[in-house]
Amino acid sequence: MKILVTGGTGFIGSHTCVELLNEGNEVVIIDNLYNSQADVVEKIEEITKKSVKFYEGDCCDEAVLEKIFSDHNIDAVIHFAGYKAVGESVQKPIMYYENNLMSTLALCKVMAKYGCKKLVFSSSATVYGNPNSVPIHEDFPLGPTTNPYGTTKLMIEQILRDVFVSDDQWSIALLRYFNPIGAHDSGLIGENPNDIPNNLMPYIVKVANKELPVLHVFGNDYDTHDGTGVRDYIHVVDLAKGHVNAVAKVLKDTGVDAYNLGTGNGYSVLDVVETFKRVNNVDVPYQVDPRRPGDIAECFASTDKALKELGWKAEKGLEEMCKDAWSYVSKVKKV
Ligand code: WQD
Repeated sequence: MKILVTGGTGFIGSHTCVELLNEGNEVVIIDNLYNSQADVVEKIEEITKKSVKFYEGDCCDEAVLEKIFSDHNIDAVIHFAGYKAVGESVQKPIMYYENNLMSTLALCKVMAKYGCKKLVFSSSATVYGNPNSVPIHEDFPLGPTTNPYGTTKLMIEQILRDVFVSDDQWSIALLRYFNPIGAHDSGLIGENPNDIPNNLMPYIVKVANKELPVLHVFGNDYDTHDGTGVRDYIHVVDLAKGHVNAVAKVLKDTGVDAYNLGTGNGYSVLDVVETFKRVNNVDVPYQVDPRRPGDIAECFASTDKALKELGWKAEKGLEEMCKDAWSYVSKVKKV
């Protein structure tokens, strides 16, 4: 099958392209390189020994999308492209609403025009807001979200449900990610933000690599086993494989379904820090700071629906996530 991957040079997008190619699909990427580099395309081709068609462009630009759909017979689309930094979204809400919503509307318009109605959307566990209990099930109430980034994801889920109501030939999977970390074991692709990271794992990696002096642990007074925040960390390769299964499902069915892509296990900040130090034999100095506004105490997934309907379950554990995250940066640094 020929799959269009928007945002395909990004962290999750690039890993998903690798798994799609490994399964025998053809891949077309559109990416504006706002948060990634063009050489990721060559790295995907090096890992898979297969070629990828890459269009540098913005998903808000219908002309670029038209060219792709007229150049290629696209069977399905995975839509990753979008801004994703929670903190930045609070500072720049208009930028987030314009980009994330308009890119999705433009994509759906062009898809419909070319008769392609198979879509996998990159959603997020933030659509659940602060859950009343854990593990979180897909039928839990949605919202209120705690930041504009999460609100764009919730709004796009609603837009896509309305698209299906208007035309029941659409088949849409809404994939709600928990906390993706780690990297491909080749060490060629991974997550290594240039600026100061917002997320825990890239921050730990930079402290271990002595690029940053100390990890700031945001609060140790939560109602959790050690007082620090608990999240469902999932290896990015497991997450990528979940997308391959979701593509297979949307190609077969019609309808709109949401799926949690997590491991079902919750780990605290200190669980992650201590595991990272132990498996990589590196130090990660940290200090406890006040809570980060907007954070919740505990968040992890029920994974039953993804297993039952997608035939998918995460396989990699926290130790492998920590090893692969460190290996990617240490290899990149060695180059
Ligand atoms: C994890 C835990 C922090 C940094 C966000 C988005 C979510 C998804 C993943 C896109 C929390 C603590 C963190 C640090 C810390 N992104 N922490 N010091 O906030 O769970 O989820 O990123 O889809 O949508 O909401 O991830 O990695 O920022 O935080 O103590 O320097 O680590 O308090 O408990 P989060 P995170």
